[in-house]
Amino acid sequence: MNEPSFKEYYSQKLNQFESYLKTSFPKLSHFVSVLEESMKYSLFAGGKRLRPVLLMTTVECGGKDPVISLPIACAIEYIHTYSLIHDDLPCMDNDDLRRGNPTNHIKFGEAIALLAGDSLLTHSFALIGSIDNDSIPPVKLIKIINLLAEKAGIYGMVSGQVADIDNLNADNPAQKLKFIHSHKTGALITASIQIGAILADFSEENYNLLTKFGEEIGKCFQIQDDILDETGDRTRLGKTPGSDTRNNTLTYPKIYGLEKSVSLANESFKQALEYLGKINRDLSRLHQLAEFVLKRDH
Ligand code: IPE
Ligand code: IPE
Ligand code: MG
Ligand code: MG
Ligand code: MG
Repeated sequence: MNEPSFKEYYSQKLNQFESYLKTSFPKLSHFVSVLEESMKYSLFAGGKRLRPVLLMTTVECGGKDPVISLPIACAIEYIHTYSLIHDDLPCMDNDDLRRGNPTNHIKFGEAIALLAGDSLLTHSFALIGSIDNDSIPPVKLIKIINLLAEKAGIYGMVSGQVADIDNLNADNPAQKLKFIHSHKTGALITASIQIGAILADFSEENYNLLTKFGEEIGKCFQIQDDILDETGDRTRLGKTPGSDTRNNTLTYPKIYGLEKSVSLANESFKQALEYLGKINRDLSRLHQLAEFVLKRDH
């Protein structure tokens, strides 16, 4: 039988993930039906699901069944979706379109949007906490919880978001930009791969190489996000371009110009593949995912 194409592979992983995401959604009291509606509105609006697919693929590349990673894949997507809801709020980027729909606060108001984000974040850890010991040993699970909490919070995404909105204080803009990208975006992307490597028992040496691979594709991903904010199409993106210019956000095109930004994204991609090439395993699906990150138009 022929190997599935990358497109087929991605859609298989997506289907497996989407159906678990749906069936594992928590039951909420009818008194808070608006909270349930608001969480589902953002969670089930599509999105590329890149982080869950990266996690599942890393697990599979390590020779394990990606099914074991599904609750954690959902947890990561909950955290990512919460970050998008809060990122769009008027006190942050003040955006009106996300995943092709009006942003959560436009649909439900700021208070519910804020609380839907809080619920997604908090419940992500309940999803991981309810994994049974036979599926993932507790020692591994604690390591994963710690890593995810750090990378979603003060050693990752939240700190990146703070540096991003604090755009007055940039005496070394290039260094600051590096910090912003590696934290607001790179951290969760890298964590998805690291968690996959923990689940699949990659050696310490390979774990470190996969970490470096994750950091490079995280950087590549956010450079491309910055480029698309200037050049992308509203319908294709499902968000309104020009947000960074309006918010005076520090971006690659702002510091380096568009052309140089494209070449820096390519450099990161190449560097990522070098790290991958040092691991003595068939990692062609991770290679293809890196290519998807570089070439994406949404
Ligand atoms: C957007 O992430 C926010 C960033 C970290 C740049 P994605 O581009 O992965 O958004 P979705 O999940 O596909 O909507
Ligand atoms: C935000 O970066 C990254 C997050 C942690 C949500 P952006 O503000 O550039 O993301 P978009 O362009 O709104 O998706
Ligand atoms: Mg932002
Ligand atoms: Mg934004
Ligand atoms: Mg952006």
